[in-house]
Amino acid sequence: MKRCILFQLFFISMFTGIFVQHIDAQNILLDSTVISSRTIISKLDVPWELIWGADNKIWFTEQRGTISRLDPVTGQRKILLQVNDVYKKKSYGLLGMAMHPDFVHTPYLYIDYTYLVDTLIFSKLVRYTYENDSLIHPMVLLSGIPGNTYHNGCRVVITPDRKIMMSTGDAGVMKNAQDVHSLSGKILRLNLDGSVPADNPIPGSPVWSWGHRNPEGLVFGPNGVLYSSEHGDASDDEINIIKKANNYGWPDVEGYCDRPEEKSFCKENHITEPLKAWTPTIAPAGIDYYQSTSIPEWGNAILLTTLKGSALHVLKLNHTGTAILSDQKYLANVFGRLRDLCISPAGDIYISTSNRDWNPGEGFPKADDDKIICLHAVKINHGKPAAAKRNDQPIAESKQPSDPGLQIYTTYCASCHKKNGTGMLSVFPPLNNSSFVNGEKDRLIHILLHGLSNPTEVNGVKYNQQMPSFKFLADKDIASVLTYIRSHFDNHTGAIDTKQVSAVRAAKH
Ligand code: HEC
Repeated sequence: MKRCILFQLFFISMFTGIFVQHIDAQNILLDSTVISSRTIISKLDVPWELIWGADNKIWFTEQRGTISRLDPVTGQRKILLQVNDVYKKKSYGLLGMAMHPDFVHTPYLYIDYTYLVDTLIFSKLVRYTYENDSLIHPMVLLSGIPGNTYHNGCRVVITPDRKIMMSTGDAGVMKNAQDVHSLSGKILRLNLDGSVPADNPIPGSPVWSWGHRNPEGLVFGPNGVLYSSEHGDASDDEINIIKKANNYGWPDVEGYCDRPEEKSFCKENHITEPLKAWTPTIAPAGIDYYQSTSIPEWGNAILLTTLKGSALHVLKLNHTGTAILSDQKYLANVFGRLRDLCISPAGDIYISTSNRDWNPGEGFPKADDDKIICLHAVKINHGKPAAAKRNDQPIAESKQPSDPGLQIYTTYCASCHKKNGTGMLSVFPPLNNSSFVNGEKDRLIHILLHGLSNPTEVNGVKYNQQMPSFKFLADKDIASVLTYIRSHFDNHTGAIDTKQVSAVRAAKH
């Protein structure tokens, strides 16, 4: 491997301009840095959390319940624990993990996972002690956090002043995110022994902030600023700065306070707006703060991995860390869905793929998925690559399909219902050859405007997930995407026009 890097270095420095054209998709070319990628370990099962450990090894969780330690140089992996009461299925299982800040002297590891009581799903935070290559003495610090088959969060981080912060999703009950007495849709704060800090906003409660939908990323930046990444519904994925007793708006506000009904809610409820929101959504997951000089172009940035977007985003911050100045996207669709990352003190970036999870993208998983990949800088000594050859721009998005219905379908629907409308058995209903799609127009329009959360049955198969509302789309866009699905995927019932959409919207039922 070393020889390979040296060889590249030689090539890059000798023939910068020429070589650049041959840099493949797995490498990144910046102003003065070439970033090369290599696979550290493969054939994993959804590595959900990566931590750079106090022992200079990578510690990671896999969703099915294993905790492993990985040598980043040799790729050798030691499984330390299989948590036996993890309830693992689609998007739940063993999720976040954090290490005690003084792990050498106090070898505690904190993990969060879903478990089952009778038929109900919950999450809990458990502390383990590391001793002689194993994890022992589990101690439950917080249990009974409402869970579901989706939206369970959860990242865990330890603050500079030694508190545990963890994120919980709304677990499918949206209104709980606004209920300060529910543990769902919150950022929670605990002492390292699981007790509630005296200065929490609500006495005796771990709740620190509320109005969150499903935050899957948490990280501390400079000056102790805590950032979260959050999944939006059909729109408005977010990056937030988390502050004590702040309300982030879900489910009444999505993204910024910009729609008329949101504006009044924001005013009355002192809603904190995100630093950044994305529509169409990208499905943001792990975040980490980059400050190494190894890749100077990425200094003072939040690095974000995305699932639907299947890319690494570099979000440059202002000097106080209170604003995002730019958003550059790398490695789009190269390794598939990206779940989490950690950064070594030398500035190397380790990223985990998530192609064996519940919703793999097209062409994934590959036989050797899932992987942990290292991105490391290979310095260029001579010359500067031509800006025109930079490969940090979106690849897939440059070609927009000409049919507006197809364009909206690809952007907003295909991630769940799939490119050919085939859906996913028991999760996302098929749209092809569907009596609903070909049926009553008003019902279809209503589903698009208001979403669908009641159980439904299509071709004898039960579906009970949530279809988000697309009311933020213009009437003509809803008309064209419905026309599209009604005239493709073996459906032949044809057009729905804008006026019909406007009429259903006006009916407000
Ligand atoms: C986040 C995933 C997701 C996205 C994105 C999504 N859907 Fe759905 N859709 C669902 C789920 C889940 C259901 C079934 C809801 C249930 O189980 O209650 C559904 C149901 C439907 C139905 C009703 C099917 C039936 O036969 O009852 C239609 C029509 C539909 N979706 C169209 C669309 C269109 C058009 C888009 C894009 C504008 C879209 N969906 C985007 C998840 C999604």
